[in-house]
Amino acid sequence: MRKLKCLLLILSLFMPLTQTLGQASTSRDDVSKRAAALLAKMTLDEKIGQLNQLFFLSMLMQPEMLEPGIREGKIGSLLFVTDPATINRFQKVAVEQSRLKIPLLFGFDVIHGFRTVFPVPLAMASSWDPALVERAQTIAAREARAAGIRWTFAPMVDIARDPRWGRIVEGAGEDPYLGAKMSAAQVRGFQGSDPSAPGRLLACMKHFAGYGAADGGRDYDSAYLSDSQLYNVYFPPFKAAVDAGVGCTMSAYMNLNDVPATGNVFLLQDVLRKDWGFKGFVVSDADSVGNLVTHGFAADKADAAVRALTAGVDMEMSLPRSPVGSAYSDSLAQLVKEGRVTTAQIDNAVRRILEAKFKLGLFENPYVDVSAVASHHNTPEHRQLARVAAQRSAVLLRNEGNLLPLVKGDAKVSSVAVIGPLGDSKRDMRGPWTLADDRRTSVSVLEGIREKVGPGVKVDYAQGVDMDRVYPSIFALFGGPRPAPWSEAQKLAEFEKAVALARSSDLVVLVLGEYEEMSGEAASHSTIELAGRQRELLEAVAAVGKPAVLVLINGRPLDISWAVNRVPAILEAWHPGSEGGNAIADLIWGDATPGGKLPVTWPRSSGQIPIYYAHNLTQQPESAPEFKSRYWDMPTSPLYPFGYGLSYTTFAYSNLRVSKAEAKLGESVEVSVDVENTGRRAGEEVAQLYIHQRSGSASRPVHELKGFERIALAPGEKKTVRFTLGKPELTYWSSAVKGWVQEAATFDVWAGGDSTAALTTTFRVVR
Ligand code: BGC
Repeated sequence: MRKLKCLLLILSLFMPLTQTLGQASTSRDDVSKRAAALLAKMTLDEKIGQLNQLFFLSMLMQPEMLEPGIREGKIGSLLFVTDPATINRFQKVAVEQSRLKIPLLFGFDVIHGFRTVFPVPLAMASSWDPALVERAQTIAAREARAAGIRWTFAPMVDIARDPRWGRIVEGAGEDPYLGAKMSAAQVRGFQGSDPSAPGRLLACMKHFAGYGAADGGRDYDSAYLSDSQLYNVYFPPFKAAVDAGVGCTMSAYMNLNDVPATGNVFLLQDVLRKDWGFKGFVVSDADSVGNLVTHGFAADKADAAVRALTAGVDMEMSLPRSPVGSAYSDSLAQLVKEGRVTTAQIDNAVRRILEAKFKLGLFENPYVDVSAVASHHNTPEHRQLARVAAQRSAVLLRNEGNLLPLVKGDAKVSSVAVIGPLGDSKRDMRGPWTLADDRRTSVSVLEGIREKVGPGVKVDYAQGVDMDRVYPSIFALFGGPRPAPWSEAQKLAEFEKAVALARSSDLVVLVLGEYEEMSGEAASHSTIELAGRQRELLEAVAAVGKPAVLVLINGRPLDISWAVNRVPAILEAWHPGSEGGNAIADLIWGDATPGGKLPVTWPRSSGQIPIYYAHNLTQQPESAPEFKSRYWDMPTSPLYPFGYGLSYTTFAYSNLRVSKAEAKLGESVEVSVDVENTGRRAGEEVAQLYIHQRSGSASRPVHELKGFERIALAPGEKKTVRFTLGKPELTYWSSAVKGWVQEAATFDVWAGGDSTAALTTTFRVVR
C-alpha cells in the first residue's frame, strides 16, 4: 500500500510528463490495438459494465452504494461526481480492485464554466465571437479537469426557435450558421487538439437531434421536422462539431417524427456514422433508453435495450435504481443468450468506449492531483475572462437620447436606485447549468454598481416584488431551500419602498427578468411575459420619470414591448456569470462598450412564436397587402430582429461589392463591404452577411446568414470586411431532389449590422 502511495505521488509530481507520455502512446492505431486486446480478455458482464453510466448524487447517495458495482466491473462511468477526493476514491476501486483494472470515465455538465461561471451559452452566442467562446471553454475545461472531470456533456448545439422552450438558454439560438460556428469553437475549447492533454476534456455534442423543436416549446415533447429543416437548420451545428473532432454524441430524449431519438437508426447510423463518419461513442440522455417504453416504441425494458443498442447508443446513462433506467445492465446478458443481441454488437459499443478511455490517457493517469485542484479554480485570469465575456455578450437594445454610457463622477448622479428581484442576486447571475461553483463568488448588479461608483455615490436597493422560485424537485438539491413567499402586507410595503426609492434617486437601474431556474431543462413557459408582478413594478417605477436603465437578467427573450417606448435604456445581459455585476457596471459607466448582437429573433409577444428571420416568403405583400402572412392584431415583424444590437457609437456600411457578377457552379464569390465608425467613441460592430437564392428546386429563406465578423473601430476609422461565398455557403438540402444541391440562380446579398440590412447587391451562379 505504501509503495503504491509513493508511486502515485511520483506519478502526480510528473503529471505533465506522464500525460505527455500517455499522449505519445495514443495514436489511433495504438488505441485500437489496446482496446481490442483488452476486449479479448473481458467477460460478457464486464463488457456490459462498460456500457453502464450512473449518476452519483452526493446529497442523496453514499459512495458505498456504488463501490461494489465498480469492484465487480459493472460500472464504466459515473456522472455528477465533482469532489476530487471522491473521484479518486471511486477510481481506486476501479483500477486497483476490479479484475481488469479499467478506469472509470467521470463526466459532468460543464456547460458554461465550472467554478468560474461564464455567461450562459445563449449569451456567449450573443458575442458573435467564436474565439472568445473557445477561450471560455478552454478555461471551463481547465477548471473541471483539475477537479478530475474528464468528459463534459457539452456543447449543447440544439437550434431553438421557440423561447417558451427553457433550454433555449443552453444553445446558440435560432441560426444554423451562427450555431455551427459556436459549436465548433466550443469543441476546440474543450478538447484542444487532444482531449488527453492537460487541462482538456472530452466533449459531447447534444442532444442529437431536433430536441429544440419540441411541440409547443414543452421540454421533452415530440419534434416534427422535415428533412429540409433537419439538414438545413438543425443538423449543421452537429455536423460542425463532428468536423471539429468531437469525441461523443448524446442522443436526445424526444421522438423525432415519431421515432425516439435514442432508438433512431436514421439519426444515429445513417446520418451520424455513415454520412458524417463520426468515430466517437454515443451516450444516451438520462434514462432515455428505458424511456423508449414510455414512448410506446419499445415493448419493455429489454426491447428498449435492443432498440437503443441496435440504433447505435453505446453507453446508457441512468439513475441508479431508476424505474426505467439501466436497461442495458438489466437486460443485455439475457438478450445475448436469447440471440436478440449479438456479442459483436456489444463488442462494437465497448470498443468505442475503451478507445475513448485509452485516447484520454486514463489508463496512464486515472487519478486527480487533489493538492493542486484549488490553484486552478477562480484564478484572477479566469475571472477576468468571465468579466470580458459578460461585457461582450451583453446586447444594448435601446439607448434613447444616448442616456448611456453614464459618466463616472457626474455630479448629476449622486444617488442610484437599484430596483427589482434580480438586482441583488448573486445566484441568478449564473444561469441554470451551474452546479459546481460557489455562488457566493458571483457579483450581483448591486455589488458591481457600488464598486464602480465608489463611496461618493449613494447606491440603495429595493427588491420591489417577489417571485416564486419554482423548479423540479431534483434541482432543489443544488438550489437550496425555497424562500418563503412574502405576506400581502410585505408585498405592499416592498412595492412602495421601491417606488419611493426611485423617486428619491437621480438614476434608476431596474433589474428584471428571470430567476436562473426559470429557464433550462424542464423549465418551459407558456408565455414570455415578465414573471410575477415585474411588469407592474416596471410601470410604477417608469412613471416616476427618473432617467432609467432596464437591465435584463434572463435565459430567453421576454415580452418587453411595454418598456421599449418608455424606458430610455435597455441592456440585455442574460445570465452573465460570476463577474456579471462588474461587467454590467462596466457597460453602464462606459468602461466597456456593448457590441453583442441577438442570436435570436425577439418576439413582441408570445403570440408571435415561433418567429425567426430565415423564413420563406410565400405571398407577395405589395400586390394585395391584406393577403399576406400576417396577424390582424399585431405586426408580423419582431420587436428586435435577429442580429440586432446597438453600440455607444454608430456604424455605416458602404461599397458592398462582389468579385464577379457571374460565377460558375462550384466557384467562389468574394464579397466585401466597408464599415465605418461614424460616431465619437471607439466601438465594436458585428458585420453580417446575408444571402437569398431567388429561385431553385425548392424555396429558400428570405435571408440566410452566411458570414460575420466582429471588428473594432476607432472613431472615424473605416475597415473593409471580406467574406467568401463558396460551395458550402451556396449549397442547400432540397426536399425536391432529396439531397444537397448547388443551383444556377440569382443571389441577393446584403451586408449590415443585423438581419434587416438594406445595403444590397446581386450575383448569378451559372452552369
Ligand atoms: C439532460 C442532459 C444532461 C444530462 C446529465 C439530462 O437530463 O438532458 O443535457 O447532460 O441530464 O446531467
